[in-house]
Amino acid sequence: MTSKFENDFQIPLNPEALAALPFGDKSVRRLSDLKTYFLNVDKAEAMLQEDDPVVYETWQMEYDLDGSGLSIGTTKIYPGNVAGEFFFTRGHFHTDDIGDELYVPLTGIGVLALTTKDGESKVIELKPGDLVYVPGHLAHRTINIGDEPLTFLSIWASHIDHDYDIVTKSGFPELFFQSDEGYSVVKNPKFAL
Ligand SMILES: [Fe+2]
Repeated sequence: MTSKFENDFQIPLNPEALAALPFGDKSVRRLSDLKTYFLNVDKAEAMLQEDDPVVYETWQMEYDLDGSGLSIGTTKIYPGNVAGEFFFTRGHFHTDDIGDELYVPLTGIGVLALTTKDGESKVIELKPGDLVYVPGHLAHRTINIGDEPLTFLSIWASHIDHDYDIVTKSGFPELFFQSDEGYSVVKNPKFAL
């Protein structure tokens, strides 16, 4: 007889415990996958002559047991930059505008770039100890502005699908570069709705 309690779990909130969950999909994005998303594509091409570093990795599991479940993901963005522009995730919209998401920063320091479909934007800093709410109608991209991996847990309803096409075409309105203050925000000259 199957226990009604076999699918619940309780784990410590740290990257090692999350990595031990039976996550269904792991994906790895290297500089060669992301080079056109950086402002200085020539510099990215030059770097690729030497190496093709991992920019970020994601693990995600649809914990959708009876059609009402949640999906759980972990993202790890490595420290690095292209001509001073920090490594980031590609970013996406949710296809369902009412599908919101929670971020739980675990390691490192970063920023979350939020953007409407009209190009209005907002920046939220990510650091361990905070809980961050991401409204589903905003595109979201995370950027590692530190010198250690930026790791965060994300939780969203399993029915949500992801739209990468809009941000691939238009980019994000703001970019994040190294500076003496830690990071500076630069208007993206390639941004086009
Ligand atoms: Fe998302």
